[in-house]
Amino acid sequence: MAPVPKGGTVAVTGSAGFIGGWVTRRLLDKGYRVRACVRDVEDPVRTTFLKEMPGYASGRLTLHAADLDNAGCFDAIFTGCHGVCHVSHVSKYDDQDYVKMVCDHIIDSVNKSGTVSRVIVTSSIAAVISEADIQEFVRRPVLYEDRYPDEHNPRRTAERQGYSMGKIIAQRSFSDAAERNGTWDAITCCPADNVGPIQSAHQKDMGPWQHNIEMMLLGEYHQNGAYRPWMTVDVRDDAECHIGLLESVDVKNGERYIAWSTDTPNVEDICAGIDRLLPELGHDTPEVTDPFPDRIKEREAEFRAIWEGCELRNDRIRSVTSVNFRPFDESLRDCVESLLTVAKVQPKLKPGFTSRL
Ligand SMILES: NC(=O)c1ccc[n+]([C@@H]2O[C@H](COP(=O)([O-])OP(=O)(O)OC[C@H]3O[C@@H](n4cnc5c(N)ncnc54)[C@H](OP(=O)(O)O)[C@@H]3O)[C@@H](O)[C@H]2O)c1
Repeated sequence: MAPVPKGGTVAVTGSAGFIGGWVTRRLLDKGYRVRACVRDVEDPVRTTFLKEMPGYASGRLTLHAADLDNAGCFDAIFTGCHGVCHVSHVSKYDDQDYVKMVCDHIIDSVNKSGTVSRVIVTSSIAAVISEADIQEFVRRPVLYEDRYPDEHNPRRTAERQGYSMGKIIAQRSFSDAAERNGTWDAITCCPADNVGPIQSAHQKDMGPWQHNIEMMLLGEYHQNGAYRPWMTVDVRDDAECHIGLLESVDVKNGERYIAWSTDTPNVEDICAGIDRLLPELGHDTPEVTDPFPDRIKEREAEFRAIWEGCELRNDRIRSVTSVNFRPFDESLRDCVESLLTVAKVQPKLKPGFTSRL
């Protein structure tokens, strides 16, 4: 199917979110017309940053109220669009019938539009690496697009792994629907752990990665599940991946692409990195606390070795887009500075340092 024309019209669901906000801004930067979908257009907390973007005053950016729980709410919005970036979360992931239903709401609106030729479905690396059994990484340590979690593991239930399962349901629902329809294609983007600048104060509590950095600034942090390192992508590069996939002439319906830089910083290094990158701030680096029960703590070395044995690959996204992934330090620095300036976070500082805000 056709990529979207340069300067064409693209609808973005979840525009007020961390990733959707950057997809919206980067589309505008590149000359597109953008229909930003949010649940409440009149909510100043969530939409003021969108209304301050270049393009809003002229009408190149328009805001639209849509809750994907309501069938038909995207019908009018998608009509006339060339592309859709379906970035938003859904209301819940532990109910597979619900996930299928909201996918169908969007699919029906795409089908009715008669104009949309490509949909980018925002999935997650959870759809690649969320395993019920960590030993699966020993058996299959290469983390790339054709790798799926062990879907036959009996411990992979909607209760425990609903997010990962819901993302795979969405990927398949959109690809199957596009194939049946024949006039549009669905390309899935699987972002990793997004770090980078927030654009609006409300985004500090979302994420979760920027929220985790906020907690580090406030002087509190703990180990990640099973001592997993962060597998990062800068949120701005993630947005470029989404747009690159909209524009690519090389992608095909049903394919998915992982958006990550392949950096894998450990939590301790991220915490310490704030003071290393911004020594003038005087951040009082917190001790990383370990909340795990003893049976997990005893296996720390084993878990860390498993993660170190994993090989992260981003060949495919780099081959179909022109994205140059930023180094993690840049994402961390810009995230911290945005938390201070946009969200007015008051960091815990070493003796002798005072807040500049
Ligand atoms: N952040 C990450 O590191 C990460 C990593 C992998 C994948 N992802 C995926 O990327 C997407 C965006 O993540 P994010 O971090 O940008 O999330 P976010 O900041 O929490 O934003 C998500 C947006 O989803 C919208 N939303 C939630 N339920 C909705 C509904 N029923 N109808 C319409 N909109 C709804 C919200 O819209 P309103 O603000 O208008 O209420 C919200 O702005 C998600 O699909 C997530 O699974 C994120």
